[in-house]
Amino acid sequence: MKGLSINLLLDATTPLADVTAAGPLSGMSVLEQLLFSLILIVILGGGLAIINLSSTMVRLQQARLLAETNPELIKEAGLENLIKPTPWWQELYRRFTDTVPVEKEADIMLDHNYDGVRELDNNLPPWWKGVFYLSIAFAPFYLYFNHFSENAASSQERYVMEMEEAEDEVKAFLATQKNAIDESNVTLLADADALVNGGLIYKTKCAVCHGQAGEGGIGPNLTDAYWLHGGSIADVFRTIKQGVPEKGMIAWKNDLRPRDMQEVASFIKSMAGSNPPNGKEPQGELYTEAAEDQASK
Ligand code: HEC
Repeated sequence: MKGLSINLLLDATTPLADVTAAGPLSGMSVLEQLLFSLILIVILGGGLAIINLSSTMVRLQQARLLAETNPELIKEAGLENLIKPTPWWQELYRRFTDTVPVEKEADIMLDHNYDGVRELDNNLPPWWKGVFYLSIAFAPFYLYFNHFSENAASSQERYVMEMEEAEDEVKAFLATQKNAIDESNVTLLADADALVNGGLIYKTKCAVCHGQAGEGGIGPNLTDAYWLHGGSIADVFRTIKQGVPEKGMIAWKNDLRPRDMQEVASFIKSMAGSNPPNGKEPQGELYTEAAEDQASK
């Protein structure tokens, strides 16, 4: 379950592949996987036991019929071990279940008859009664321990604990994701791949408003040293991510992955000073890289 909740908590921009690449079991801890396998084995075993039981019942019925009609054939049919005197474990089983032998069932048959289905008035199985009484005896201790003593965490405390655990897990998970980039840790990329990719994003999504070469248009000139919302890589990243919706600049956080926004922000920074033709007049405040370098050192 925890695995699932983490996936749901992921930033919506995490590429689907990162989440779905994990198989159905990979979200489980080792313990959960063990438990899961155990449950499977129990279910399988139960199925086999039922098949075995029904075939034994059929053979038992055969043996009984033969015992009444033709006892010497029993051995021939290989059924003699079925009608030997009851071994001790079967006796024990009978005591634990307190079942009435088939031949005596008529004594406990109720007179209801539901379209041919009749009901036996069996005793409650002793094993079941034992568990029932044990649980009654256990209840006061449990109540005391969980609700009145200080030993156990309350549901509220356990909830808080689990939320904290889950938060830690989310953090640990996000730390392993290369997409976990935000304004606080974004860095300027300089490698060719990143800039080519950033340039592609710019051409398809941004150039309509900011010009093919960043000279500006509906949006401001991105190649000059003047910025409305700050010119550091973190500022540019934040502007792209959050947008300035009231001024016509979309928030891109739902369309672009953090890594994409980092690449396009780096691409924009790489256009600085390129002085394209028809540049839009500077807007905002002068931003100098030196100031940022000083600040970040
Ligand atoms: C629909 C037009 C439009 C599109 C498309 C658009 N922008 Fe903008 N952008 C604007 C406007 C308008 C502003 C100015 C906002 C203001 O006046 O505060 C702006 C401002 C900005 C700024 C801040 C500039 C400064 O001076 O601080 C950056 C950075 C920016 N856009 C990057 C992008 C990127 C990257 C893309 C593509 C992913 C993009 N924009 C797509 C219209 C657009």
